[in-house]
Amino acid sequence: ARCWGVIPAAGSGSRMAADCPKQFLEIGGVSLLRHSLRALLACDAVVGVVVALPGADPRAAELAREPRVEVVSGGARRADSVLAALRQLQKIADAADWVLVHDAARPCVAVADIERLIAQVSRSGSGALLAQPVLDTVKQADAAGQVCATLDRTSLWRAQTPQMFRLGELQAALVAALDAGVEVTDEASAMEWAGHPVQLVAGSARNLKVTVAEDLQLAAWYLDGAGR
Ligand code: CTP
Ligand code: MG
Repeated sequence: ARCWGVIPAAGSGSRMAADCPKQFLEIGGVSLLRHSLRALLACDAVVGVVVALPGADPRAAELAREPRVEVVSGGARRADSVLAALRQLQKIADAADWVLVHDAARPCVAVADIERLIAQVSRSGSGALLAQPVLDTVKQADAAGQVCATLDRTSLWRAQTPQMFRLGELQAALVAALDAGVEVTDEASAMEWAGHPVQLVAGSARNLKVTVAEDLQLAAWYLDGAGR
């Protein structure tokens, strides 16, 4: 089985509130999307990557000329964008091939962490994602901010990407979960819902998701300071 990449990059970046969708903001003259793409392509096992861009994006043609890269139009929700990319992949890949889904908004992922994820999945044969243990004390509260409970953080993890699953199984799980009205915020949640085993592979803090303006400075620090 081969290994492919999918990058959902069709969001609008509403929380970033920049002049363009955040995946096109640049750090060191390179867009967040390009940083994320570069990390996936740096993995020996990755045969090709499908990027989901906003519909009719002017950057599509240039990106599609890159070796090992294909471009599709994304959808309204992240899961729709991932499904659009998976449908494209279906034309060139086997159902049993593996897919690494990685957010364009996680430009600082270490190649070594992706390689560890791939190695773990190759060993175990079941899907997995990079994740980090929750370090903060976690409160559950009502809408008014009144605390109801303190959760046991020893069993809590923060899901990151890449998330690695078999193409056919992931596609089926995403379609079924969306059809059932399940809120699908990552691939693993659809796979869990469909009854597949999902494993965690410990990642690192540098793999932050760039969401709000202050995240950009931290991402820039990881990208220039700590290198790759
Ligand atoms: N994404 C996508 N298609 C969508 C929504 C999101 O491909 N319809 C992508 C984003 O471009 C990003 C990743 O999914 O790379 C994670 O989503 P998020 O961080 O929520 O990005 P945005 O949806 O763009 O940001 P916001 O929620 O603040 O609008
Ligand atoms: Mg979003």
